[in-house]
Amino acid sequence: MLHFDHGAPAARFMLRRHLDAPSHPPAVGFQRRRPVSILGCRMRALARAPKPGTMRAAMETELENRQPLQRLFAEVAPTYELVNRVLTFGLDAHWRRKAARLAAAEGGRAWMDACSGTGELAANLRALAPAETQVMSLDFCRPMLARAAAKPSGRKIDFVLADVKALPFADASLDLITISFATRNINLSRAALVRTFAEFRRVLRPGGRFVNLETSQPRSRIVRALFHAYIRLVVRRVGALISGSRAGYAYLGTTIPRFYPAEELTAILKEAGFVEVRVKRLLFGAAAIHLARV
Ligand SMILES: C[S@@+](CC[C@H](N)C(=O)[O-])C[C@H]1O[C@@H](n2cnc3c(N)ncnc32)[C@H](O)[C@@H]1O
Repeated sequence: MLHFDHGAPAARFMLRRHLDAPSHPPAVGFQRRRPVSILGCRMRALARAPKPGTMRAAMETELENRQPLQRLFAEVAPTYELVNRVLTFGLDAHWRRKAARLAAAEGGRAWMDACSGTGELAANLRALAPAETQVMSLDFCRPMLARAAAKPSGRKIDFVLADVKALPFADASLDLITISFATRNINLSRAALVRTFAEFRRVLRPGGRFVNLETSQPRSRIVRALFHAYIRLVVRRVGALISGSRAGYAYLGTTIPRFYPAEELTAILKEAGFVEVRVKRLLFGAAAIHLARV
C-alpha cells in the first residue's frame, strides 16, 4: 500500500533547492537498493514509491549530463515550449490535454509522466487527478525538470531524476504511466523500445495503463511526404533559430520521419507484454495516442 501525503512546505523547498543547484547532493530519505548501470549512468532504485515534497535523484549526481541526449535537452530547455507552440501552431498543447483526459479517466493512486521535460503533460494530469492521487514527473535532464518544478503546478507534483530504462520503482507499484513526444528519443531501435516498454510494464500494476502520445506516420503517401518536408524544411530551421541549438533541432528533426507508424508501435507494445492496445490518430496520422494495458 502506498502512502500519499502532499508534503509540507519545508519539504517542497528542499525539492526546489535541489533542482536549482546542480552540485547539491541528492536529498536524503531514499534507500539504495540494487545499483544498475545503463549507458554509463549508474542508477539506484528507490526502495519504495517516492513521497511528495523531496527530490528523488535516482541518478548519481556526478553522472548527470554524461549522455549526449541529456546535454542536448539541457541546451534546448529554455525555449523548448515556445518552439513547440510555434512549430505545431499550438496543437501540441491541445494533444497533451487530450492524452491527459484519456489517461486520467480511470483514476488510480500513483501516476508517473515519463520523460516529462518541462512537465506540461504532468500539469494536465495533476489538474485532472483526484486529490489523493500522487502525480510524478520523471526525466533524466535536470534543467528540464527544474522548469517543471518552477511552475505553479509543480507544487503538487513529485520530481524524479532518473533514466526510464531503469525505473526506480518497485514492481507493480504504479497505476498509470504517460509519455509525450519522447518515445522516439528513448531509442529508435525496436529491441531497445521493447525493453523500455517492458520496464514500464514491470512497474505497472495488473490492469495499469500506459498512454503514449507521439508523432507518427500519416497513412496517405501524399500527406506523409508533406509532413516530412515540413520537418525537413521548417522544423530544423525554425527550431534552431528560436532555440539557438542547431544540433538539437537537427537531431529532433531526424527522429520524426524515422519513427514507427501507429500499427507497428502497437505491435511493439504487444511484444513488450501490453494487451488491449488502442490507437487514436491525430491530424491525419501525423501524431497518435496509444492506450495500452497491462
Ligand atoms: C522532446 S522532450 C518531451 C518532453 C515532454 N514530455 C513534452 O511533452 O514536451 C523529451 C524529454 O525526454 C527526456 N528523456 C529522453 N530520454 C530519456 C531517458 N532515457 N530517461 C529519462 N528521460 C529521458 C529528455 O530529457 C526530454 O526532457
